[in-house]
Amino acid sequence: MATGARITSIDEVPEAGSSLFTVSDRHGDDREAILVRCDEEPGVRAWINVCPHEYQRLDRGRGAAIRDGEVICPKHGSMFDTCSGDCDNGEAAGTTLTAVEIAVDDGTVYLADEGYTYRHNGAGEDGDDGPSSTSHIGF
Ligand code: FES
Repeated sequence: MATGARITSIDEVPEAGSSLFTVSDRHGDDREAILVRCDEEPGVRAWINVCPHEYQRLDRGRGAAIRDGEVICPKHGSMFDTCSGDCDNGEAAGTTLTAVEIAVDDGTVYLADEGYTYRHNGAGEDGDDGPSSTSHIGF
């Protein structure tokens, strides 16, 4: 199987928290994504770092809040299953996080999603809470 860019090693993904990385989408816009632990194989999942309820980063640069296998949205407190991305509670009930396909090979996590190109680890360049559509071009 062809694998994409290396993101990190699985050991670097915190047990309670998230690893932030940045990809670009089909339009060339930067999107942040998070890696989180999941009890199901291959042990991690990647999600776009935005709550589906309102525009809100789940990981604001210091790791997402994770409790009992769920990511907690910092805005209204809805919780998303780290494995399925599904939410059944609070303001975001009925929504699902946007998945980013990854592959794990020998403890290394690779981007395996044709919709995204790996950019770098860490936050997107604007790094604020605004929508990515307003991100600055030409800096
Ligand atoms: S913005 Fe995440 S639950 Fe409302």
